[in-house]
Amino acid sequence: MIVITAASGQLGRATATALARQVAPSTVRLAARDPSKLAAFAAEGFEVVRADYDDPASLRAAFEGVETALVISGMGIDADRLRQHVAAIDAARAAGVTRVVYTSATHPTPESLFEWAGAHRETEAYLKASGLAWTILRDNAYASNNDGLYAHALQTGVFGLPGPDTRVAWVTHEDVADALAAALTGSGHEGRTYEITGPSALTGHEVAAELARLRGAPVEAVDVPLEAFAAHLAEAGLPPFVVSGVTSFYAALAAGEYAEVSGDVERLTGRPGTPLRAYLQARHAR
Ligand SMILES: NC(=O)c1ccc[n+]([C@@H]2O[C@H](COP(=O)([O-])OP(=O)(O)OC[C@H]3O[C@@H](n4cnc5c(N)ncnc54)[C@H](OP(=O)(O)O)[C@@H]3O)[C@@H](O)[C@H]2O)c1
Repeated sequence: MIVITAASGQLGRATATALARQVAPSTVRLAARDPSKLAAFAAEGFEVVRADYDDPASLRAAFEGVETALVISGMGIDADRLRQHVAAIDAARAAGVTRVVYTSATHPTPESLFEWAGAHRETEAYLKASGLAWTILRDNAYASNNDGLYAHALQTGVFGLPGPDTRVAWVTHEDVADALAAALTGSGHEGRTYEITGPSALTGHEVAAELARLRGAPVEAVDVPLEAFAAHLAEAGLPPFVVSGVTSFYAALAAGEYAEVSGDVERLTGRPGTPLRAYLQARHAR
């Protein structure tokens, strides 16, 4: 049995879909704090249970009888996330899980400008010291993070983000999910850390050129200072910790922390990663 925690999010759903191409849904348990969000998956034969990162007993129950657990990183300030991830790893060990697969992030170093990199770094260290077998997938920036910015650019011709001169190896949720499915079901992944990136790294200007192709009209990449970027997020109603965390993420992108391309998606899945052009065509063509 495989379990996925935080399964109601985009990545959890995409990974469940990817797993169902390889194994019977009845061998996959989807754990979410609100199981009703996964009713469609239950109807397809997945086991759906309740598990909240803030409720260790629910985690322990969700891990019962499980061989391999995918712990998808949570949402919140760093201290909360780390406590939640530690609770999940402890519950996995107590339930007799053999291997934990964890979704980390690119470049989780003390020097990172991304203020939530710390929870990833410390979770990685805690997992490695846990005595459990482990596999870590460090995800680059999700292509869908910019969906609002792409839509705005297609409407106005302005693609505004901090640091448009810097390359980012944007990766799709589907590529991450297929890589996770391979790491969950395949052998030889114990003690391995994979860098999950898109097949190339693009500057903001190159992304703007792709958007211009879709728009059939010019799109210009414009450098948005971090303070202005944070102000936009705050105006959109995001809570202060999210404004701060997301702004620090774009600062890390602008500093080049997410520029490196790895071949790990192709190595894990046996197929090339999805170019951002294909993602934009599929999600944003009008
Ligand atoms: N690399 C990147 O660019 C990037 C971008 C965004 C996020 N991330 C990280 O990657 C993870 C997966 O991304 P995603 O796109 O799937 O995010 P998402 O769609 O926002 O999903 C987040 C998931 O976390 C769950 N969750 C939050 N608090 C929880 C708790 N206390 N107990 C159990 N589940 C909890 C949510 O449950 P509910 O459905 O109940 O809310 C949801 O299922 C995120 O959680 C975040 O750590 C990475």
